[in-house]
Amino acid sequence: MLHQSDTFSILYYMLLIPIQWKSAANQFLYPPEYQSHFSGLVLSHEKIRARIRELAALLHQHCQVHARARPLLVCTLKGACTFFVHLTEELQLLRQGFDVEFVRAKSYVGTESSGAVRLLLGQEDADGLEVLEHFKGRHVVLVEDILDTGTTLEKLVPVLHEKGQPASIQVVTLLDKRLKDGTEKKFKADFIGFSIPDVFIIGYGLDYNELYRDLRDIFVISQAGIEFDAKKLHDG
Ligand code: XMP
Ligand code: MG
Repeated sequence: MLHQSDTFSILYYMLLIPIQWKSAANQFLYPPEYQSHFSGLVLSHEKIRARIRELAALLHQHCQVHARARPLLVCTLKGACTFFVHLTEELQLLRQGFDVEFVRAKSYVGTESSGAVRLLLGQEDADGLEVLEHFKGRHVVLVEDILDTGTTLEKLVPVLHEKGQPASIQVVTLLDKRLKDGTEKKFKADFIGFSIPDVFIIGYGLDYNELYRDLRDIFVISQAGIEFDAKKLHDG
């Protein structure tokens, strides 16, 4: 015989299970055109944001103990843009002052590091030489999306030292890829958000041929995602 309490539990589960199922299916919000373009989740948005809060606290502590000066936060475009926005927001909540600058570095073609890094740094002087006048004497915090082989930072950091003459450069990267068979990185970051496996990832600012930067979470790209023709989205 069914007790009143059993009836309540059956009703409860009849209601709850569909709600839970619906929320699991909607857990990751992404544009519908990206359906089947991922083969797995690497980091959820919530996990990323929680870690960025911790990174901001570490940076704030570092600024107070070591530099004691207002840092110049330098975003490496385009990939680090989303990370930069959320990191600066957390620093604001800690009442940490900062200035901002942007540089652009490009090394990937498709899912492979091209080895050749193109840098676009700052303004040009009258002779057409690039100048980084805002860097002089500053404690720079370079904000990177992902550190893979280290090729980009191995090239970028010495150039910033040489052309900008900053007092110091610290590097904060959201992601640090673990390289296959213990290969040494050419560059090591000072602050790291997450160590991730050696797979090609997309989302949260990271792209595959300029697509997928608009994802909230970080995923592994699927074969369908690699093969997708981005032009289909542009033609309206
Ligand atoms: P390196 O090898 O120079 O690589 O340390 C760093 C730069 O390469 C890009 N990169 C990726 N971009 N998914 C991406 O969307 C990835 O899995 C990935 N791995 C490296 C990125 O621009 C980074 O700054
Ligand atoms: Mg980058």
